[in-house]
Amino acid sequence: MIHFDPTTKIFNLVLATSTYAFYVDSEGRLLHLAWGARPADAASTAVLHGPGFESLPHFDQLPLTRRYELSTLGDGAMQEVSLAVGFPALSADLTSDEAPHLPVRDVRLRYLSHEIVSDHKVGPDPSSGSGCSAQPGLAPTHGQPGCVTTPRETLRVRLTDPTQPFEATLCYRLTPEHDIIERWCEVANTGPEPLTIEALAFATLHFPNGANELTSVSGWWAREFMVARERLPMGVRTIEQRAVQTGHCANPFFMLNRPGQAWEETGEVYFGALAYSGAWRIAFEQLFSLDVRAHAGYNPFDFSLTLAPGDSHTTPAIAIGVCPEGWGGASRRLHAFALERVLPCPADGPALRPVLYNSWEATYFNLSLEGQIALTHKAAAMGVELFCVDDGWFGGRRDDHAGLGDWTVSPDVFPGGLKPLIDEVHRLGMQFGLWVEPEMVNPDSDLYRAHPNWILHFPGRPRTEWRYQLMLDFGRREVVEHVYSVLENLLKDHAIDFIKWDMNRYATEPGSVAGQAIWRAHTAGVYEIMDRLREAFPRLQIESCASGGGRVDLGILARTDQVWTSDNTDALDRIRIQEGYSLAYPARAMEAWVTHRHNHQTGRILPLSLRFDVAMRGGLGIGANLNELEDAELAEYASYIAFYKRFRHVVQGGKLHRLQRLEEWGASVIEYVTADGREAVYSVVVFDHQLGWVRPPAPLRGLNSDATYTATDRHGAEVYRATGFDLMTVGIPGDASGGPSYSRTLHLKQV
Ligand code: GLA
Repeated sequence: MIHFDPTTKIFNLVLATSTYAFYVDSEGRLLHLAWGARPADAASTAVLHGPGFESLPHFDQLPLTRRYELSTLGDGAMQEVSLAVGFPALSADLTSDEAPHLPVRDVRLRYLSHEIVSDHKVGPDPSSGSGCSAQPGLAPTHGQPGCVTTPRETLRVRLTDPTQPFEATLCYRLTPEHDIIERWCEVANTGPEPLTIEALAFATLHFPNGANELTSVSGWWAREFMVARERLPMGVRTIEQRAVQTGHCANPFFMLNRPGQAWEETGEVYFGALAYSGAWRIAFEQLFSLDVRAHAGYNPFDFSLTLAPGDSHTTPAIAIGVCPEGWGGASRRLHAFALERVLPCPADGPALRPVLYNSWEATYFNLSLEGQIALTHKAAAMGVELFCVDDGWFGGRRDDHAGLGDWTVSPDVFPGGLKPLIDEVHRLGMQFGLWVEPEMVNPDSDLYRAHPNWILHFPGRPRTEWRYQLMLDFGRREVVEHVYSVLENLLKDHAIDFIKWDMNRYATEPGSVAGQAIWRAHTAGVYEIMDRLREAFPRLQIESCASGGGRVDLGILARTDQVWTSDNTDALDRIRIQEGYSLAYPARAMEAWVTHRHNHQTGRILPLSLRFDVAMRGGLGIGANLNELEDAELAEYASYIAFYKRFRHVVQGGKLHRLQRLEEWGASVIEYVTADGREAVYSVVVFDHQLGWVRPPAPLRGLNSDATYTATDRHGAEVYRATGFDLMTVGIPGDASGGPSYSRTLHLKQV
């Protein structure tokens, strides 16, 4: 519910268990009032009434502590801001010695009007007339229609500068059932001269005083999503990526709480996640007063946005919320939101993510029709449902030195084209998937030879190669059209069900015909191509990969079905990676492979049970070389896959509880449970075990106390039977002294 009181000028955004409020002050500024959990006994219509807020310390006239809903350069600001604009002239006449002061970099946003609109159409069409339309390719519409499309309310508050020809509309879309507000902003040049925007966040966020414990993730290739929990310093702490993809170094989500007042399942936790896969930044700022605020949106590094007269720009969104059920509760809200409102709803496609086989680690660049066909037979026999051929099938791509850009099937590898393989995959009852890396070229490629200037570079300057490749300039319209038509033709000519869209380098010399707009244009181009492909091929599924988990965020999840979480397939390393991923993103989209006994990345030897127990926590995939396995081991794979299929609906659609986290226990115990509590999956993996440690069983959550449950293992054997009450009070015994690499998965069902 969105409530506005014309007397106090207070806006209340009322969600299931939280409230967000701001007001228009006597000068017309839009100032933050409160954001937090609602008192448990509050009526669903209870709102903040005021008046009298001006006398609170936040609302005194000290500009430093004034809590703007969008803070701007000028207007009293001396700290971090969300918006900076340069105006080329004053509206009044200038005296000659004032002219050197231009441009005027002072924006004052004052209330003009507001409206509440319903998003009657969810989809990529910006001409829908809905208040929630977005710039094509960017995120407020979130790509494809999600599974739940019931209309939601959006509040649009129009602000203008009193003298300069500039408007900003702050947008708040409510998903009350998950306590989520999506915020974004629209900026418009209403004057006759071009304007330059020098910094633009999607939103300024204000947290309660003292909410300075930050949870975020950082990492690198093979080490994505490493969780860090820290106390914010006084001043500014940023998490960011200066790239045209989301990046490995950090991921655009956060959780914040007052230290000591939140834990895994308890306490008030604030969270936010950007729906954007380009250069992003979230700057947290803590003032002397312990006020904590964040500026979340485009990275100001090398940023510039020119608005021609009459032009406007709509930013992507940030999904924010507050939850009284700890970090776990915050994760569950983000997961539910992503599942219902962000991930594309399969058109007629599989309701659950299929079990995947990917031949990359089995054959690398050593591809052949016979070799792949041998793998398809073994994969199908063990229950695989989607067979994906990885890198190396096209152009001159016999290794990573050549061929990117030439997306035609290589006769050296597949003399009869891909059709014989695709037909065989389909005959065996599996879907067919193919790897592509459409944003790139190798200098040794026909595409580069034909268009050496189609890449990001500064004329006359060296072009840095990374994995022997260069990045196409998506600032050129003809490049975006070329990439689209190449992929369109590939999909028209072949019965492809799935593409793994990879992206294996960072931009270095960002020279583009689009100038500095390339930082946004690249991402918008990727989104546009994906959206058009999905519209043209509604059954197509896409996996987002960028050297593993380098492009994972709510923006890409809106147009892909799953992500490749990391190139690191070592099950023990993977627990950490998956735990960090799970803070913000749902298991359904988390592709996880079982690979070789002797792991190719780390060299570690781990038992098959552990490799499956970790991979079955997400979308299960197989990446081992099946030709190297004995029949007995193939049969074991088949038995695990059959086990996974019995409970995958719980993993892919249930609620996650991190019952024991690595940080505290050296073990990771998680549970997925269905919304009605009738079914659950219980998964234990021990990472570290020291003699003398006794791990208590982890009480389960979300079951029905009075009901009785059976817990079965992979063989269908009942290993435990207890009431929901017992399970939620004591847990499942038997794992206390499991040593390093001990693991087990149980499927619980109400009888
Ligand atoms: C990247 C991906 C891998 C694989 C290779 C192929 O590293 O993350 O999964 O597809 O490229 O070159």
